[in-house]
Amino acid sequence: MPPNPPPRRQAPANSRPYPALACLSDQDFNAIAHLVESHTGIHLGQAKRNLVISRLSRRLRALGLGDFSQYVTLLCSGRADAELVEMINQITTNKTDFFREPHHFKFLSEQVLPTLENQAPRLGPKHLRAWSAGCSSGEEAYSLAMTLEQFCSPRPGLTWKLLATDLDTNMLRLASSGCYLHEQMAKMPRELLFKYFHRRRESGGYVYEVKPYLRHMISFGKFNLIHAGYPRRTPLDFIFCRNVLIYFDGPQKQAIVEKFVDSLRPGGWLFLGHSESLLHTNRKLLCVGPTIYRKP
Ligand SMILES: C[S@@+](CC[C@H](N)C(=O)[O-])C[C@H]1O[C@@H](n2cnc3c(N)ncnc32)[C@H](O)[C@@H]1O
Repeated sequence: MPPNPPPRRQAPANSRPYPALACLSDQDFNAIAHLVESHTGIHLGQAKRNLVISRLSRRLRALGLGDFSQYVTLLCSGRADAELVEMINQITTNKTDFFREPHHFKFLSEQVLPTLENQAPRLGPKHLRAWSAGCSSGEEAYSLAMTLEQFCSPRPGLTWKLLATDLDTNMLRLASSGCYLHEQMAKMPRELLFKYFHRRRESGGYVYEVKPYLRHMISFGKFNLIHAGYPRRTPLDFIFCRNVLIYFDGPQKQAIVEKFVDSLRPGGWLFLGHSESLLHTNRKLLCVGPTIYRKP
């Protein structure tokens, strides 16, 4: 029996923090913002204060702590690695969807994949390699997998593999389960739903599970984009890193893009989110479409 989908992050029945927790001093907010930025690159300005209160109040409740200063003391104690992971899991914004920003998937199947096919050697297969960086709960990675599979399966000369990474361990658990609820499938074309998912009924309604052969084409793993260790051994044909850089400041974003450039093969493509344009900020990439860039 396949596993049940792990629980998604849910707002508690009453998502407002209870009064004792609503008070977050400047000092505690700054300490949390500093920890978050140094571990993830995510910049939390003052405007994110209420977000910090509402997302971390449930951690205080779970730990039985009475206020944020106790929580900050715990986080800074040097003995709270597991809680640091939990805290970061709560702070990250994981909004995603299947085939989000659909023009990117159209560009991929109409421009990128035919170009790669034309570069295939006359003898032997061509192996396509791609990365969904900041994959959240996996919808982006599976949308890429379906696009790659649709294109490559009738072309025996093309094989593909996908790397999908995120910092948030809860999201990675969801992603590798490959299980989604009925309401998450609303925009999925019916033919893809039937072709790539098994449906089963559970007490809460229908659950859709990605078919194992497709799931096994993707390697899910934890990777922090502000750390070293970017894929280098096999240069990548394209990278999707969408709606992730928006949380970083300018220099951090620049540094990450430089590392993506090094991971791409010459001629490889980088796809960013709709509000993450690199216009005027990067000379190593050519803009070839809306938030689509190519390494010369
Ligand atoms: C808004 S989601 C975007 C998901 C997907 N790419 C999309 O566009 O639908 C942003 C994701 O980036 C991840 N993230 C944030 N900071 C990160 C970091 N330093 N390293 C890796 N992933 C990070 C978050 O955990 C979150 O799942």
